[in-house]
Amino acid sequence: MSRRILVCDDDDAVRSSLGFLLDKAGYTPNFASSPEDIIVYITENDFDLVLLDMNFSVSINGEEGIELLKKIKLLNPAMPVILMTAWASVELAVRGIKLGAYDFVTKPWNNIQLLKIIETSITLSGNKSDEKVSVLKKRDKLVEFQAIIGEDPKLIEILEIIKRVSPTHAPVLITGESGTGKELIASAIHKYSFRKLKPFVKVNLGGIPASLFESEMFGYRKGAFTDAKSDHPGRFEKANKGTIFLDEIGDLNFTSQVKLLRVLQDQTFERLGDPSCITVDVRVLSATNHNLYSLVNKGSFREDLLYRINLIQIEVPPLRKRINDIPLLAAYFIGQAIKTYSLPEKSISKDASEWLCQQSWPGNVRELKNIMERTLLLTTGDQIRPEDFILAQKTGQHTDPAGSGTSGTLDAMEKQMIIIAIEESGGNLSRSSEKLGISRATLYRKMEKHGIQAGKNE
Ligand SMILES: Nc1ncnc2c1ncn2[C@@H]1O[C@H](COP(=O)(O)OP(=O)(O)OP(=O)(O)O)[C@@H](O)[C@H]1O
Ligand SMILES: [Mg+2]
Repeated sequence: MSRRILVCDDDDAVRSSLGFLLDKAGYTPNFASSPEDIIVYITENDFDLVLLDMNFSVSINGEEGIELLKKIKLLNPAMPVILMTAWASVELAVRGIKLGAYDFVTKPWNNIQLLKIIETSITLSGNKSDEKVSVLKKRDKLVEFQAIIGEDPKLIEILEIIKRVSPTHAPVLITGESGTGKELIASAIHKYSFRKLKPFVKVNLGGIPASLFESEMFGYRKGAFTDAKSDHPGRFEKANKGTIFLDEIGDLNFTSQVKLLRVLQDQTFERLGDPSCITVDVRVLSATNHNLYSLVNKGSFREDLLYRINLIQIEVPPLRKRINDIPLLAAYFIGQAIKTYSLPEKSISKDASEWLCQQSWPGNVRELKNIMERTLLLTTGDQIRPEDFILAQKTGQHTDPAGSGTSGTLDAMEKQMIIIAIEESGGNLSRSSEKLGISRATLYRKMEKHGIQAGKNE
């Protein structure tokens, strides 16, 4: 049976062009041109989706549009509502989405994009069920997020937001302390969007000096400056049809903020040395561990830019605020490292698990992950005990005094541990190998691999 869509707009031209589009796409369009009609239609009929104009020209203003949305959601909470709005009133769309609208499109809309949004929202709303489910059952329903580990209600809520916002083109701002999983969340949003087969381009905005911002982000033409030997596309062009992930956006300098704002407003820009306008279709995700609202208050972050990027905000809680997830994450990282590096199986003792839950984890999940990997290397028995973590933590601090857990790969940790063991046994390699729980031959081999010089005395 063909899906029924209610098109609410007071503009005849809009109604007829949408009607034509929907009809051609196999839907059954119905029309309402006043707020009263909308309520009557929705009370009396069962629609699969509503397209609601938020800027009725005469009869209602934005505020009334919001009231109308609330009534619609009250009458039929499960029915997806897509808002239509002018770019100038994106704030309205923000409020609308918070009130349960499924997504929004800005006028003039793009037909293909609109049809995609309609299709995904109808499909997803069809899967929705109102039954109260336990957190675990909810988690089971979110099977697609296998790579994001955790069952804490705060995390489940985030997974549900990801699921809801992924198929939309709404910009999402992901905030949270270092190592909480912001990038993981950004890539999940891309992965579950209809842009998944297109590029996901990550840009570390904190690392781009103001003088290079334009050439890096917008590209340049051959000859634009001395070193411009050939045409070069910028990050926005590379992300076309896909997603751009603006990481560390709170570290972006003020001058570049203005330039970024412009491209976010109309998705157009020029390459350096080429006056022709380039238009792209890019979904924008941003992340920061700063509080952008206080940066705005201090005057170092533009308020208009903040409102452009934070249509949806996901705040990732620090690990110490979701303690129950610590053992789950620990077991997950151990399992992964065992698989990746073909290490022997090991379990975590009860004491060790409790020890993990008592730590404050300033470096959050990344720190936990690093400690788990380091500990695996250190532990000689088949069970990990608290002492093993404490030793691993010590080796971590050696490479990373800030304790943020950002020290490198398992390989780098192995090297570091060997250096420490040799240091601590005063250069005695027999004792070092004993300390490390490996044979002397293995120690020699590993020292050679890592380019570690033997101590002066054995
Ligand atoms: N819930 C989770 N499940 C599994 N792995 C996770 C989870 N959260 C974070 N990680 C892992 O922890 C590490 C750090 O995560 P990520 O890089 O996404 O953090 P971040 O918030 O972007 O950090 P930063 O602010 O330092 O850039 C990554 O290896 C990531 O895969
Ligand atoms: Mg990150």
